[in-house]
Amino acid sequence: QDKSVQVKLVLLGEAAVGKSSIVLRFVSNEFQANKEPTIGAAFLTQKCRLEDRVLRYEIWDTAGQERFHSLAPMYYRNAQAAIVVYDVTKAASLDKAKSWVKELQRQANPNIVIALAGNKVDLVAPSSSSTPATPSSETEDEPDDATATPGEEAEGQNGGDTDDVRQVPTEEAQAYATEAGLLFFETSAKTGDGIVEIFTEIAKKIPIE
Ligand code: GTP
Ligand code: MG
Repeated sequence: QDKSVQVKLVLLGEAAVGKSSIVLRFVSNEFQANKEPTIGAAFLTQKCRLEDRVLRYEIWDTAGQERFHSLAPMYYRNAQAAIVVYDVTKAASLDKAKSWVKELQRQANPNIVIALAGNKVDLVAPSSSSTPATPSSETEDEPDDATATPGEEAEGQNGGDTDDVRQVPTEEAQAYATEAGLLFFETSAKTGDGIVEIFTEIAKKIPIE
């Protein structure tokens, strides 16, 4: 009956970047504004349908607090997939993500599929090339509408008082992900942006046995 392939997936990343919220969105399509920190780890499952097959994700949602770091190997050992999460409004969380990726590439299953998720995009102003799940092509020279409204332009170049709290430019994270061989998405557990996409794109890269 249930012939779906099981895929063990682990989430890693700094505390409070939204790992549990991403899982809650994917598994229950819900969001909690004040989610409590994970202690140890949490286990959840969810099916993922592709055109030609169904996978069953067995998800280990780890705790990001530093005191739990030493537990992580138990959860990424034998994992076929990992989502390493950072918060686009916190530059230091990308550094932490990079160190998790290094650890995975050294210690985890050599065939592990790793995705990098820049979460909380709902908090930042849309930047010209931040369309989620669409790694923009090089050819971006769309002929600019020659007549930009002076008023609007002033708004764009005034770095002083915008409410954009983004600390990690999309391009920077994308470049890193490409170089490190990772899938890359910007996500919002709050709005659901990019969440199904990330699990679906990972699923497509899991080899059929
Ligand atoms: P640890 O379990 O401690 O490692 O944290 P975590 O990575 O699981 O983060 P968690 O999902 O608990 O989210 C931390 C806080 O950020 C919570 O208050 C969430 O509601 C909030 N949050 C998570 N994702 C998003 C998002 O996409 N947008 C916004 N605005 N808030 C988010
Ligand atoms: Mg958590």
